Amino acid sequence: MSTPAILVENVTVHYGEVLALDSASLSLDAARICGLIGMNGSGKSTLFKVIMGMIKPDAGRVLIGGQSPSRARKEGGIGYVPQSEDVDWQFPLSVRDVVMMGRYGHQGFTRRPSKADRAAVDEALDRVELGEYAGRQIGQLSGGQKKRAFVARGIAQGATMMLLDEPFAGVDKRSEATITRLLRELATDGCTILISTHDLHALPELCDEAVLLMRRVLMHGAPELVLQPENLAMAFGLDVLNRPLPEPGTHGGHKHHTASADAASAENRG
Ligand SMILES: Nc1ncnc2c1ncn2[C@@H]1O[C@H](COP(=O)(O)OP(=O)(O)O)[C@@H](O)[C@H]1O
Ligand SMILES: [Mg+2]
Repeated sequence: MSTPAILVENVTVHYGEVLALDSASLSLDAARICGLIGMNGSGKSTLFKVIMGMIKPDAGRVLIGGQSPSRARKEGGIGYVPQSEDVDWQFPLSVRDVVMMGRYGHQGFTRRPSKADRAAVDEALDRVELGEYAGRQIGQLSGGQKKRAFVARGIAQGATMMLLDEPFAGVDKRSEATITRLLRELATDGCTILISTHDLHALPELCDEAVLLMRRVLMHGAPELVLQPENLAMAFGLDVLNRPLPEPGTHGGHKHHTASADAASAENRG
């Protein structure tokens, strides 16, 4: 048996009194795209953070290709697209600076970018179709462009694993299509991808497999299986059985309407 790309074993995480993950277990093979679904508060972001090594579990363990998350991160193997709430969009960084962060592991401790670093950044920006926005402050982009900038950071990094926390929330259709196509290309090149989304309609096209999370992994299997109403009901509550799936593009579950989401939908119309 080969070593799983991601192994999460009986991981429990508390924030004070709040139990965010309760003996969650997950094993993911390399070069697969796995969709992570679960209602708000089900522990999706926490799961990403323990896989990244940003949060230490109270119990259980995480192994990335057989090694610790901190080691895997040091080796530059993990690309991370955080949920928008976890990013300080006012930070004075240009799009190019954000993507260059992916090259830190390749640079000496002076952090002076080499020709190869610049070339990798330019190439990544082209792949996400953001070349012309390279000089913009990161907060000045639309929702979809911001996500693409972080995907470019992972590409420039040469990540063998990409963790994307709700990359389609508040995002225009063009960005969603671009990101979906890129993820497919990355997986074909051997990259392992874990992606949380509320867009259940897009799941079968987006993913090879899907995981239902509710503090623990309730189910892990083919997207079609996980999407069966009785399985969704376990994770989202029984009323899902009496409710049609959200219309494509509405990103069911997101009540917040942000300036960037408005910009993104304007972009979508235009
Ligand atoms: N920094 C934090 N401090 C306290 N509670 C938190 C923190 N982050 C998340 N939580 C709580 O942990 C639970 C899981 O949160 P989270 O992992 O963000 O879920 P999801 O991403 O699925 O919405 C929720 O009840 C949330 O309120
Ligand atoms: Mg979250």
